[in-house]
This record gives sequence, structure tokens and C-alpha cells, in this order.
Amino acid sequence: MAGRFLVTGGAGFVGSHLVAALRARGDSCVVFDDLSTGHRAAVPADVRLIQADLADAAAVDAAVADGPWDGVFHFAALSLVGDSMRDPCRYLAANVGNGLRLIDACVRHGVRHFVLSSTAALFGEAGAGPIDETAPIAPGSPYGESKWMLERALLWAGRIHGLRSAVLRYFNAAGADPEGRLGEDHRPETHLIPLAIDAALGRRPPLSVFGTDYPTPDGTCIRDYVHVTDLADAHLRALARLEQGSVTYNLGSATGHSVLEVIGAVARVSGREVPWQAASRRPGDPAMLVAASGLIRRETGWAPRLARLDDIVATAWQWRMAHPDGYGAA
Ligand code: UFG
Repeated sequence: MAGRFLVTGGAGFVGSHLVAALRARGDSCVVFDDLSTGHRAAVPADVRLIQADLADAAAVDAAVADGPWDGVFHFAALSLVGDSMRDPCRYLAANVGNGLRLIDACVRHGVRHFVLSSTAALFGEAGAGPIDETAPIAPGSPYGESKWMLERALLWAGRIHGLRSAVLRYFNAAGADPEGRLGEDHRPETHLIPLAIDAALGRRPPLSVFGTDYPTPDGTCIRDYVHVTDLADAHLRALARLEQGSVTYNLGSATGHSVLEVIGAVARVSGREVPWQAASRRPGDPAMLVAASGLIRRETGWAPRLARLDDIVATAWQWRMAHPDGYGAA
């Protein structure tokens, strides 16, 4: 049976891909987004967009009251590790305050199922090897800390009010809708793959590689890049699993790639050189973050379909070729 879902941040990178996945299976959604980083053009014309700020308690309450909802997906948040290291209180106040406001409204209006975009950034310097759900929590940045606080709030909302939650800790969301409708368009862009693509195209100065002296084989940071369409699929599977109770999953492809390996993939896919230069480390960046995603695979049958780095980069490249200015002026 088709469901009805509220999606905060549904005009953003991961949220818009989730909206597409929900619609592809016949569900309807309402997007709640202030468009501060999201794009109106990323929301299909026949999807209702509530353009409002999660800090606006009345707007949040009205949106959640307009149920019934089969689930609420919460993507909207400040999400840059580096920014959070410069402005910790802003990150904590916005992400925690807005998230609590939404969770509280869900409890008051009888929402049963909540899905939180969480992050690998709450593991901090986790050391070598894939990180599973039992790894110690030690956020290396206020951004990671803010998501951990929301995870704890959901635990208590579950125990006390019965709100079931799926917490999905993304590693590095990347790529673009293989059908070419949606892609990554952050302003300013800070993420490695789109910046490397633009460096290859000569649209930006050479890419700065933040740190070449990490304790990794080539000295650059290792991350687990997971395709955004696979992430969207994981949300649908985690939602279904909520029938059996709350869950927390680490979501990655279980394969790490260094910054220099990503540069190599962009060069292969684009057929161009990627100019780059060594730069100093970016505060808050752990040396290595790679997911052990065994739990979600076992419990939901999820497996990334676009797991190869070159395939992930290829979809990002195709999006950039088809949309040189992203979503345009919107
Ligand atoms: N990097 C560079 N140069 C750049 C940009 C990035 O060397 O110009 C490096 C970073 O230092 C890092 C890697 O490329 O080692 C990936 O950086 P991104 O900015 O693309 O992504 P992050 O790993 O910082 O963060 C992303 C999300 C976070 C999330 C985190 C979890 O943005 O929300 O993944 O791994 F928490």
C-alpha cells in the first residue's frame, strides 16, 4: 500500500534522491525545506514544498500536524565538518535544536516512524579497519556531536513515547541519480568529488589536497564513498525494518579510497588530468572512515549496486556534463 511521508531537507542532495525513490514506488511525499542549501528545482513539480525553517516552531508543528504520516525522514541539517570546527555553537544549536523540535512534534502528533540522517563523523578518529555499529562514539567535530545528540534524543523518544527510529550513519554520500534528474549542487561546494571534477574541467583552480601526511598508505585521508541512490534504497529498507523495532545502521560500501585514489578515478572517468596541490590538513578530518555495513545487509538485504568508485564518479561526471551550473539560479 502506498505511503505518505514528510521529508525535511527533501530539496537537498540525499533528501531529493530519497524523494525520487519514494515516488518511484508510488508513495507520496511532502518536502519541508528552507532552500538555504537545497534547490527548488530538485523537488518535483507535483510534490508539495513547505518552504520553511525548522527553527520556526509553528511551521514545524503545522507540517507534522498535517498527517497522518507513515514516516518522517529528517535530512535537513548543517552538514560540513570544517564549518562546524569554526562555528561549533551554531552547529550544535541548529542541528540539535531543530531536530528536537521535529522529534517533539512527531511525538505530539502520533508519528510512529522516524528516519534520521546521521553520520560517520560521530566516530571521530576510529583507527584502521571498517567501523561497525558497536565502535566507540567519539565525535571529532561539533557536526558529529550534533548528530550523536539527536541519536540519543531518539533513543529516549523511543523508550518513553514509543517513537520507532532508524538511524542511518552515512559515510561519504556521492554520485548522482543515474537517470540524470538529480545531482550534487552545494554552494559553496566543499566535497571532494565535485571539486575534483571541476578542477579537471578547469572551472576551478587546482584541487587542494588537505593533508598528505596522514598515517595511510599514500598519506591522504581514506573515506568510504557510497552512491546516493544506494543510500536512498537503504532508507526504504530501514523504514520497512521499523515494523520490528528501532535500528541503527552504518552505511557505506565497506571499501576505503584515499583522496589521491579519488583523483585517479576522476581522471579515468573524465579522460582529463586533475590538477592538484598539497595543502595543510583540514581541522576535524579523521585519517580514515570506512563502514562495516554487515548489519544492514543481513537485516534488510541491502547491498550497494553502484559500489565501484569509478561508477560512482561516472554518475557525478554525467550530472556535471548535463548540468554545468547544477540546478541553475534556483
Ligand atoms: N578533501 C580534500 N580537498 C578538498 C575537499 C576534500 O582533500 O577540496 C578531502 C577531505 O579532507 C576528506 C575527503 O577529501 O579527507 C572527503 O572530504 P569531503 O569534504 O568530500 O567529505 P567529508 O569526509 O569531510 O564529509 C562527508 C560529509 C559529512 C559526513 C562525512 C562522514 O560531508 O557530512 O562525510 O564521512 F559526516
